[in-house]
Amino acid sequence: MGEHDVGSGMTRRRMLGIGGTLGSMAVTGLSASAAMARRPAVTGALLRSAIPLPPPFQVPLPIPAVLKPVSTAGGADRYEITQREATVEILPGVRTPVWTYEGTFPGPTIESRSGRPVTVTHRNELPVPTVVHLHGGRTPAASDGYPTDLVLPEGWPDPGHGGHHRGHGGHGSGHGGHGSGHGMHHDPRAVVTRLTRDYTFPLEQRPALLWYHDHRMDFTAPAIWRGLAGLQIVRDDAEDALGLPAGRRELPLVIMDRSFAADGGLDYPALDPTLRGRLGVREPYIGGVLGDVILVNGAPWPVHEVDAVRYRLRILNASNARHYELEAVSDDGRRLDLVQVGADQGLLAAPVTHRVLPIAPAERYDVVIDFSGVPVGGRVRVVNRLGSGRTREVMAFRVARKAADGSRIPRVLSGDLPAWRRSDAVRVRDFSFRAGRLHGDHGWVIDGLPFDPARSDVTVGLGEVEVWRLVADVHHPVHLHLVGFRILSRSGRLPLPHDAGLKDTVALRPGESAEIITRFDGYRGRYLFHCHNAEHEDMGMMANLEVV
Ligand code: C2O
Ligand code: CU
Ligand code: CU
Repeated sequence: MGEHDVGSGMTRRRMLGIGGTLGSMAVTGLSASAAMARRPAVTGALLRSAIPLPPPFQVPLPIPAVLKPVSTAGGADRYEITQREATVEILPGVRTPVWTYEGTFPGPTIESRSGRPVTVTHRNELPVPTVVHLHGGRTPAASDGYPTDLVLPEGWPDPGHGGHHRGHGGHGSGHGGHGSGHGMHHDPRAVVTRLTRDYTFPLEQRPALLWYHDHRMDFTAPAIWRGLAGLQIVRDDAEDALGLPAGRRELPLVIMDRSFAADGGLDYPALDPTLRGRLGVREPYIGGVLGDVILVNGAPWPVHEVDAVRYRLRILNASNARHYELEAVSDDGRRLDLVQVGADQGLLAAPVTHRVLPIAPAERYDVVIDFSGVPVGGRVRVVNRLGSGRTREVMAFRVARKAADGSRIPRVLSGDLPAWRRSDAVRVRDFSFRAGRLHGDHGWVIDGLPFDPARSDVTVGLGEVEVWRLVADVHHPVHLHLVGFRILSRSGRLPLPHDAGLKDTVALRPGESAEIITRFDGYRGRYLFHCHNAEHEDMGMMANLEVV
């Protein structure tokens, strides 16, 4: 991958991402410069539901249950999660089979404390192998959910030879690309288990909203779509002491889009609906699958009753490909301030006030909204400026009553944000994120190459600071495992207001480049970076990040 030493020049051509191999894509077939001029609002194609959709703001907002630990002894919390099929009611009166963590969609929330280790024993009772990744976690590689570190379900054919396989022989060979076998990849380093696996998270990291989700090679997008996503919240005493809205005035909001088939099931344009053999989606959806139903915490366009006070919203975009630009609009047409207090990797140094909050797949925003100016009985709709028709609506708040508010938004939120400077960087690397070829078909590539678990892409030294320059053809939300980073620039200009704080996902817009800086701290081992448009990720847009 394009690597050069600090100080070496980079041509303007590369900086702008012009002249790279651009795929010929029907949906997203824009040259970088044309895309830069047009900046299409979406990357992906809309999949329409085949059943009538409910009116908005009828279903109450569910709050995912907090998972109870099976043990809190010895300074660590132990949890057990069974991954299994369940039938849930998402649309009123419609039964929808989903894949779940512990029977619910989204999965249960794990509440944890910074520095207090958590072990989650996952048991796979689904019909396919799974992998669990804690997104945003600073996790030893063995528990980070590398895409070939499969947990095989009971009865899944024993894989072939090569690699480690705890308890059950070897791990498979042959690539699981278009049309081959059981999605097994030749990866001699894979650690495969059968039925269960313990994932251990030391959580030596800042308090933040994390999420866990499936990360299986080639099939992450459909697995998340079917329901394999949940929240893990990390807190600490300093954050608790800030006086931000808390208790029932702190709301996790997991936003996803989905589409429904005529039989009430979730629709998804997988080339192989069994998710066993051929990866990828049908032609029009290669840019990403966009649903026409907006869910928050698993409910369609829900409504939530609030007091006329401040609320803290912990927002996650768990959509595969849909971007949002969120606004909170009262019935009299006023836009409420969204006071951002945190980013992907926790608290900002100081609050940043937005009227519009762009959120790409996998990004999180921690915002405080104040309903005290809204009359009792009034309503505040959360709107997505990038949507159209029904997908413009996200959810609504109904202000039910006046109430006392003891919360506050301190001017200083946190003093421990890393302030890496360019001069700290030992290396600058360049990466392009573009359409390309995967097994002779449409795909998505980083620096021209589709993901290969057996290839070495980037090797970094533990503790070293690097600057990465990323350039995109269409929208690519780029995510790094293990580390948080700061955004230094966008297309040579200052970062945007919502780029503040410590991030683990940066949303590149069409034709845009961004510079990020990070220290590769934490653990040695094999990690990843990839596009978090989940369809792009499955169709090649991922690379290895080895920390040595
Ligand atoms: Cu949210 Cu590699 O993942
Ligand atoms: Cu991640
Ligand atoms: Cu992408």
